[in-house]
Amino acid sequence: MSVEIRNPSEGELRKAMKAVEAAFGEEQKEEDLDRHQKAMPRDRFFVAYDGAVPVGTTASLPFELTVPGSELATGGVTWVGVLPSHRRRGILTQMMKHQLDDLHERGEPLAILWASEAAIYGRFGYGISAPTVQLDADRSRFSLRDDPGPRGAVRLIDREEAGKVLPPIYDAVRRQVPGFTSRNALLWDLYRLADPEHWRRGGGPKFYAVLEFDGEPVGYAIYRIKLDWQEGFAKSQVRVLETCATSAAAERELWRFLFGIDLVVRIQGRHDPGSPLFLMVVDPRSLMLRVTEGLWLRLVDLGAALTGRTYATDDSVGMEVRDELCPWNAGRWRIGNDVARTDDDAELELDIADLASAYLGAFDFNQLAEAQRVRELKPGTLQRASDLFRTARPPYCPEDF
Ligand SMILES: CC(C)(COP(=O)(O)OP(=O)(O)OC[C@H]1O[C@@H](n2cnc3c(N)ncnc32)[C@H](O)[C@@H]1OP(=O)(O)O)[C@@H](O)C(=O)NCCC(=O)NCCS
Repeated sequence: MSVEIRNPSEGELRKAMKAVEAAFGEEQKEEDLDRHQKAMPRDRFFVAYDGAVPVGTTASLPFELTVPGSELATGGVTWVGVLPSHRRRGILTQMMKHQLDDLHERGEPLAILWASEAAIYGRFGYGISAPTVQLDADRSRFSLRDDPGPRGAVRLIDREEAGKVLPPIYDAVRRQVPGFTSRNALLWDLYRLADPEHWRRGGGPKFYAVLEFDGEPVGYAIYRIKLDWQEGFAKSQVRVLETCATSAAAERELWRFLFGIDLVVRIQGRHDPGSPLFLMVVDPRSLMLRVTEGLWLRLVDLGAALTGRTYATDDSVGMEVRDELCPWNAGRWRIGNDVARTDDDAELELDIADLASAYLGAFDFNQLAEAQRVRELKPGTLQRASDLFRTARPPYCPEDF
């Protein structure tokens, strides 16, 4: 179907944002539209117009994404929706192409997103790049093994103080962990610290807890409590919105605090697969960890993306990469410390989406080959490529966007 894809004018933006209500079935409150309008540069917001009617949207927030050894400009894709009256006619396909061309022209070598459904984005070259884990822990079974005993102190602080204390902790961790995105003061204020009543979904207000060792902030947790009483007994849940810890000891003390909150039976939230918590407790099963595919990543500009990360060995590997949607990426590359196009024989063959799965260190090439996602053309290359891309820890993205 023929639609026009373009940036909305200043006067059209709100109506276009409002159109997404029908795509997701959720009311967009005026207060949230104000918020989104402040956060979203209009030239990064694309609308599919059927005549004068906005029938689809996609947008990207400007982030710096932590990649192994560095940070790269990255489009954080969001606001993806097509009206139910216009679905399955290729509008998303047209918008995805338009957006990738836009990011390419901007010189942003990566795009990332969270998918509402896991089957949507693989066809556009996005790969599973940072799986996440959901925690739904039974508080009564929590106990630390080989517990060295409590350390430091937790202080509950108000939103204003949180705005000063939390960002430096986040940034210290962000620089170490591939998958973290930069979060400027506006994003902290408008989203992570903000706490409008209608975001609570039955829970209480946000609490901001900072952990200090010798008076120095070393970690924090943002959480809510969903109160629940049944026949005289409290069965509340702690909903963890974000934790950040600058060391394993800080992480242990944050969880000690969260699992110590009274009147609570379950602790729930998104969890970092690189966290040591699973190995720190006596009863790891009781954490009830459930893996989901997490963050999707697209190599918009393969050359710049692969030049922009560091490697674990001095080797280089010849790869034949398929990429129909972004033909500038397709072809034969030598990948390692000097990334370049090559005429040499390829040693591996793979799709751009599967290269994205190895890019942040989530999966190695042996795993990808076992799942028939990579073909080894020269024996021994899977191991060499895995060694080359190896990272110190699994990637993780704590940001909602
Ligand atoms: C997901 C959504 C944006 C798709 O838009 P659309 O315009 O219908 O998509 P297209 O017509 O371009 O579909 C392209 C291909 O993706 C497939 N596809 C689209 N949505 C899909 C889904 N939810 N699950 C699996 N496949 C899907 C189509 O079948 C089509 O496949 P084909 O090329 O083999 O025929 C739309 O259904 C929507 O708005 N859903 C609700 C909101 C939402 O989930 N947004 C995504 C937020 S991350």
